[in-house]
Amino acid sequence: MYWDKKHETMPRPDLEILQLERLRETLSVALNSPFYRERLTQAGVTPESLSNLEDARKIPFTTKDDLRSQGQALLTRPLEEMVRLHASSGTTGQATVIYYTRGDIETWAELLARSMYMTGMRPTDVFQNMMGYGLFTGGLGFHYGAERLGALTIPAGAGNSRRQVQLMQQFNTTALHIIPSYALYLLATFESMGVDPRDLPLRLAFIGAEPHTGDVRRRIEEAYGLKAYNSYGLSELNGPGVAFECPEQNGLHLWEDHFLLEVIDPRTLEPLSPGEVGEVVLTNLSRRGMPVLRYRTRDLAAVEPGTCPCGRSHRRISRIQGRTDDMLILKGVNIFPMQIEKVLLAMPEVGTNYLVELSRKNFNDLMLVKVEVQQEFFQEDLKYLKSLQKKITNALKSELLVTPLVELVEPMTLPRSEGKALRIMDLRDK
Ligand code: COA
Ligand code: AMP
Ligand code: ZN
Repeated sequence: MYWDKKHETMPRPDLEILQLERLRETLSVALNSPFYRERLTQAGVTPESLSNLEDARKIPFTTKDDLRSQGQALLTRPLEEMVRLHASSGTTGQATVIYYTRGDIETWAELLARSMYMTGMRPTDVFQNMMGYGLFTGGLGFHYGAERLGALTIPAGAGNSRRQVQLMQQFNTTALHIIPSYALYLLATFESMGVDPRDLPLRLAFIGAEPHTGDVRRRIEEAYGLKAYNSYGLSELNGPGVAFECPEQNGLHLWEDHFLLEVIDPRTLEPLSPGEVGEVVLTNLSRRGMPVLRYRTRDLAAVEPGTCPCGRSHRRISRIQGRTDDMLILKGVNIFPMQIEKVLLAMPEVGTNYLVELSRKNFNDLMLVKVEVQQEFFQEDLKYLKSLQKKITNALKSELLVTPLVELVEPMTLPRSEGKALRIMDLRDK
């Protein structure tokens, strides 16, 4: 029932002692990085100055901007000791890059093995990983975890819908890792192929990477005839394997032996009580190459009150309720409005006015970007406009990693609006 009974069911007082030990150790490791050496010295925080877990509040917060601007200054060891990197959100200078040592990769795999084992996955299962491999953490993160657990692992990757169904049929897939909206979208492919997913031996799905409701989960469970478990994580803190649902499906156990959890009011920065929704703040307790301290995730959730009947002592967080920033998630890919603006404003042919509409058609996320073309370019022939449209589409795809639909419109036809956020209309059901 447990992958690591000792750590998963550790009585809270012992767990908190372990957390304090690991926090102090992490701090002394972090002091080897130029970034934290300066930050912690300025704040006067040393490992010895932490006498209890509340003292963690003396540590300054870390933000995404810190990770973006400081990059390798967060590394605690020479680059040669890093064996992998992953990156999130944006390809041109905006990306957040995370480096892992060999030990960090092993710890991460262990956390995912623990998470999947908790839901009932066993070495006899056949696991099809339908997340993006490459720089996304969802692909390789789960891959290593599933192999560590001992399941036969199919590195299917994202996309290629018919092939996904064929793989499931050919190899008798029993467990999936899939983005929830894609799980619903894929049903049309099953139908067109005359295959009922309920007739396949599928029994487990791990769904995450984007916000989704309990209703979406139920629909996936019914359509596929399996149990679907919510999986939460973020690249900055490893990737997936930060918090995961157990068979009780009453919130996600956040693995507190590896992460220090705080939920704060994003305005006052004060801690909130269980049941109160606020910003999740996380500290790595076991990552050694690039530990991140008090990271403001911008994700909104609450700690679920009470204990879980499954016997695990790690606190549970609610499903993610939203974000405190303007980040959008499209097909499991994070997008900041700033990225769109940057691409468009770098093109002399287009004006400064654009409008982005996000919609969901048959569970597929669509991004329509309406762009005003400068008067002198709009006079050009249709062939020119077609090639301009293609150029903008390619530039956006290369920055965002999803393909938008680009519509060129005449100058002065879009409503004027102040600020990036107002140029984005998210029409998808919440
Ligand atoms: N997951 C997996 N596949 C998806 C998907 C999703 N969320 N959304 C769409 N797809 C499929 C499409 O059905 C299509 O396959 P098909 O042609 O066989 O039907 C294929 O991917 C390309 O779709 P398209 O809409 O043209 O893609 P795009 O260029 O806009 O985006 C993706 C390309 C889907 C590959 C990219 O968005 C992606 O990698 N998403 C997954 C991100 C991820 O793994 N996140 C986890 C982070 S931890
Ligand atoms: P990435 O760093 O690309 O893995 O993206 C991490 C972000 O994806 C998180 O900060 C969340 O906003 C979002 N996310 C990941 N898992 C979930 C989930 N299960 N539910 C809702 N949002 C999620
Ligand atoms: Zn539980």
